[in-house]
Amino acid sequence: MPQKPAYSDLILGIESSCDETAVAVVSVCGTILSNIIFSQIEEHSPYGGVVPEIAARSHITQISGLITQALTQAGVTLDDLSAVAVTRGPGLIGGVMVGLMTAKALAYAKDLPLIGVNHLEGHALSVRLTQDISFPYLLLLVSGGHCQVLTVKGVGNYELLGTTIDDAAGEAFDKTAKILGLGYPGGPAVEKAALLGDPKKFALPRPLKGRAGCNFSFSGLKTAVKREFEKLGGELTQQDIYDLAASFQAALTDAILDRVKNALDIFLPQINLAASNNKRNPAFVAAGGVAANSYLKDGLKKLCSSHGMDFYTPPPALCTDNGAMIAWAGAERFKIKDFDSLDIGAKARWALDPNAVLAMGKKTKLKKQG
Ligand code: KG4
Ligand code: ZN
Repeated sequence: MPQKPAYSDLILGIESSCDETAVAVVSVCGTILSNIIFSQIEEHSPYGGVVPEIAARSHITQISGLITQALTQAGVTLDDLSAVAVTRGPGLIGGVMVGLMTAKALAYAKDLPLIGVNHLEGHALSVRLTQDISFPYLLLLVSGGHCQVLTVKGVGNYELLGTTIDDAAGEAFDKTAKILGLGYPGGPAVEKAALLGDPKKFALPRPLKGRAGCNFSFSGLKTAVKREFEKLGGELTQQDIYDLAASFQAALTDAILDRVKNALDIFLPQINLAASNNKRNPAFVAAGGVAANSYLKDGLKKLCSSHGMDFYTPPPALCTDNGAMIAWAGAERFKIKDFDSLDIGAKARWALDPNAVLAMGKKTKLKKQG
């Protein structure tokens, strides 16, 4: 049996897999002592998306100062830490390497355990940092790079039920925002514009709706937005922009709800058996940047309540990329003494469920990545 960790066990979390450099100090009991994020949005916005080399260079210049800030705000020093957790992948490899090498240096210098965290596991477990939720739960992971539905059975134990066969949900938001001239990152901008629009104004497709399985598809939806834009001659009134944003958000939400409903039909029969002596309703969790979207959250809440499930999502600031979720995934692994050696490598790709059959009809087993 692993020893129960003391309250004073503090984990430093470092995230650098995309366009945020983020550092946090979190206790294994779930107290966030600091959570600092440097966003590179301004550096990338002239290009309409993240430029990997600019991202890596920016992580290098920011990371040391952010670590100092996170420690200072937490009121601790490196000597007070119990472990260093860092995003090991998946993500833009240059950025991941900056974070990983920094974490290795700290772990070596201070003789601390190193915990290389899967960024997706950071999102998957983030809800347990602020809420009391036990395993198993059904998870919708919707971010800029991913759209997956999984059963979370425990730390490091995931079963993939469905994934996107083309674009990620956040990518669809970002591309739609670009078409509508709403800037980058697109999700929050589309959500804001949609508040003033009519979601029924444009009849956009709901990809894969009514089909069996839990896979997602969004590229046809993005193309349909482009087609409506072109039909209007590329000259949109402000109201057209609001209406197209609202119609897109409604179509994407509708498509996600249809896929999630199929996942509930798989998950619920399993959970009811497994949790027959558990007094609480089965749990559904939405995490990742797109889970900050209120329209999507409202739809998911209704779907869950009609199926007797409790709906959970981290607070919006913990949905988008942050260091606290990496520190927390590290804390979950610290509790079971699951540490890494200093020679681990960075991973550009890293599936949460190594046994999942790939989407896109390839029927290829993902290689187990050690
Ligand atoms: O989880 P995240 O910060 O980074 C990745 O791991 O990808 O997710 C970023 C994505 C972006 O595509 C952004 O547009 C989207 O999340 N996003 C939103 C909202 N806030 C962020 N999408 C829709 N509505 C939002 N409020
Ligand atoms: Zn993320």
